[in-house]
Amino acid sequence: MTTSYWERTAKKEVYAPLDKDLEAEVLIVGGGLTGLMTAWNLMQAGKKAVIVEARTIGSGVSGNTTAHLNSSVDCDYHIVAQNFGKDTAKLVAEAAVLGIELVGQVDKAHNLDANYKKLPAYIYAETTDQILELQKELKAAKEAGLDVEEVEEIEGLNFPTGMVVRFNRNARFHPLKFLYGLAETLREAGVQIYEQTRVEEHNEKDGYVEVTLSTGATVRAQHLVLATHSPIFMHSVHTRMAPYRSYAIAVRTRQPVPDSLIYDMREPYNYVRKEEDDVVIIGGADHKTGQTGDENQHLQNIKAWAEERFGIAEYLASWSAQVFEPADNLPFIGKSLTHKRVYYGTGYSGDGTLWGSFAGYLLSDIILGKENKFAELFSPARLNVKAEAGEFLKENLNVAKEFIVERFSSDASDVKEIPNGEGKILRQGIQQYAVFRDDQGGLHVMSPTCVHMGCVVQWNKMEKTWDCPCHGGRYKATGEQLSGPPATGLRKAEL
Ligand code: FES
Repeated sequence: MTTSYWERTAKKEVYAPLDKDLEAEVLIVGGGLTGLMTAWNLMQAGKKAVIVEARTIGSGVSGNTTAHLNSSVDCDYHIVAQNFGKDTAKLVAEAAVLGIELVGQVDKAHNLDANYKKLPAYIYAETTDQILELQKELKAAKEAGLDVEEVEEIEGLNFPTGMVVRFNRNARFHPLKFLYGLAETLREAGVQIYEQTRVEEHNEKDGYVEVTLSTGATVRAQHLVLATHSPIFMHSVHTRMAPYRSYAIAVRTRQPVPDSLIYDMREPYNYVRKEEDDVVIIGGADHKTGQTGDENQHLQNIKAWAEERFGIAEYLASWSAQVFEPADNLPFIGKSLTHKRVYYGTGYSGDGTLWGSFAGYLLSDIILGKENKFAELFSPARLNVKAEAGEFLKENLNVAKEFIVERFSSDASDVKEIPNGEGKILRQGIQQYAVFRDDQGGLHVMSPTCVHMGCVVQWNKMEKTWDCPCHGGRYKATGEQLSGPPATGLRKAEL
């Protein structure tokens, strides 16, 4: 798998696995931004949560983001206003600003030195259609109460753009310097943190949730927060989101890049931001997970876009991550539809750091039983048929197609066609296998059927993982579960 720029430039502490039973008022599963910010907010109210992370702190999508905190959110204010009304668009804008501010407050309060910096975000339109779209978004964003304006140009940018809109008071930060520092702050304050501890099962009983861990330990918690990007075992929300892969590079450029967040309006869109003086992060090239021929081509597309505009002097890192697009455009943050004591945040689109930060605040308030004006809007229990029906139907038809069509496809008919370090879907008779050949030539044979809802996984050529095209479940090359919805690995098989 790839290593992000953030992983290469931050130093973390190691936390032991949880190998003894315990009781917790709040158990948080997942050591990314949502999990740690929930723990931090609870701590402000005097509650010390327990955090368990399947791998290491920040190793999920939080460590593979591009960490731009932008109020120009992916859900688009004019779409929100159209589907939910102008008052809702105002609430979304307020929530976005809160997400940006909270990261800054935590960074400052605990001297995390996470390179948090306030700066403007620019969106530019290059075609007539894009200009019409941007005009609608500018009007809706202003009506939502944001500090936003049309400007002549992007100051310091070396190539011409069409219409430009500037969202003021946005921010950027180093997500792993932030998370590693915050984890230590929490630990020093008495929050228990455990790594390499995966949840295998959770059952709601009378007055508590019993959680079984991969270490053999059991936690009995009054409240359970699933901060696992896609919440495991929460099937009702999995079918209301679509998984996409997104790509990023860290480079040094020959042309200067202004210190701001910059987005074009292509489909998919490209974006650029600086990190330090001479490091530039460029992202985009999104596509539906498991539904492309070669993931490496998407990375090449970003590199070509960056080379053409800024000239690349040095590559520092390239990586990819997954985003979940909710059917009605808004994230799901709140109490589970089906469980009284289980909570989650998911469906953040391309605004994971922003909504992760905000989710920590909202989930904490809900657990504490506080009134919160945002609770109803982001609740997984909301149902806006006008906003959701079209996208829900489209995505579930896509799932049905993947479920059926991929049952008959294959990449190889003989293991000899699989080189070292590669995986392929192999067909022998009516049987399909997911086969990975490791660097020593050893074969790892698995059923390609995703353990979540039975779609056929696909080999990700760039990350060297098995990715599920239906709801975005991911597995290591050797079949172990990497990220939800599935809670366990692919089943072993024999040729
Ligand atoms: Fe749902 Fe694979 S993640 S079927």
